[in-house]
Amino acid sequence: SSISFRLSKGISIPGVGFGTYAKEGVKDEMYNAVLHALRIGYRLLDCAWMYQNEDEIGRAIKDFLKENPAVNRDDIFITTKVWTHLLTFDDVLWSLNNSLEKLQLDYVDLFLVHWPIATEKETYYRPKIGPNGQYVLNKELTENPEPTWRAMERIYNEGKARSIGVSNWTIAGLEKLFQFATVKPHVNQIEIHPFLPNNELIDYLFTHGILPQAYSPLGSQRQVSTTGEKLIENPVLNEIARRRGYDIAQVLIAWGLRRGYSVLPKSSNPVRIVSNFNVVELNDEDFAAMNKVADGRHFRFVNLKNTLGYDVWPEEAA
Ligand code: A2P
Repeated sequence: SSISFRLSKGISIPGVGFGTYAKEGVKDEMYNAVLHALRIGYRLLDCAWMYQNEDEIGRAIKDFLKENPAVNRDDIFITTKVWTHLLTFDDVLWSLNNSLEKLQLDYVDLFLVHWPIATEKETYYRPKIGPNGQYVLNKELTENPEPTWRAMERIYNEGKARSIGVSNWTIAGLEKLFQFATVKPHVNQIEIHPFLPNNELIDYLFTHGILPQAYSPLGSQRQVSTTGEKLIENPVLNEIARRRGYDIAQVLIAWGLRRGYSVLPKSSNPVRIVSNFNVVELNDEDFAAMNKVADGRHFRFVNLKNTLGYDVWPEEAA
């Protein structure tokens, strides 16, 4: 797929990116998965410090560029993110440098604050865990992320990240950020799929020139929502896919692209890596039907409140 979008400052970002989060145990697959994705034509890799696999991804990028002299580093859009225990000014700088070292790069295309939550660090490589098994909140930095954002702006101004942004941010959090930001976030990467269309937040982002980016567009590796429903088993979505001869994932990806933002399907399966990149188009009727799948639902698959010890969306608590 050659579909792309533009960030507020004019940088082009691919419409379909390759997600690189993998649950424990399947990390070794990442080198092969990324190399395969790049060979097929994916030009956006969505990485994160926390995924603990940036060294393998770096090797895959390096090997791919070596075997394809016609492709340059700047033809690939590479995102990474800083984890919650590295959000002081100095630690943000450390985190990006650490990611760049592992990725074997001298800049990333997009650098994101992974969660709107700051926690304490045990060491650079380990978040502090409290007696209850949860991360230990850094209350002050969570309530006032100005030092974090100043470091993001420094990185941006130094050219180590061509754009900067946030992930899992709410409207309230963005409003706070705007009070002191000299560089506004270019992206907010959030969970979006037909069970969680996030319309209000997405409208707000577009109004402020922030591009939404959808993670878990296929309904997440967790698969089952709080109510036990699986996105990829939804009858309406499957009927559309069946009728048009598409794969359910293709329908889900097409829905996000048609809504105007970048989507990040993740797969470790070579066949699905190909089909997910083979973008199809939805007609008006199917698009309208998909928009209605959400009726009465607001199902989030990814909420790390039990790990992070902080609920970003308390109003959604059952
Ligand atoms: P797999 O890696 O075995 O392909 P997320 O929504 O968090 O990005 O996770 C995507 C999940 O959907 C993964 O578990 C992935 O499993 C699965 N998946 C990826 N592509 C497809 C597809 N085309 N059809 C069905 N499931 C898919």
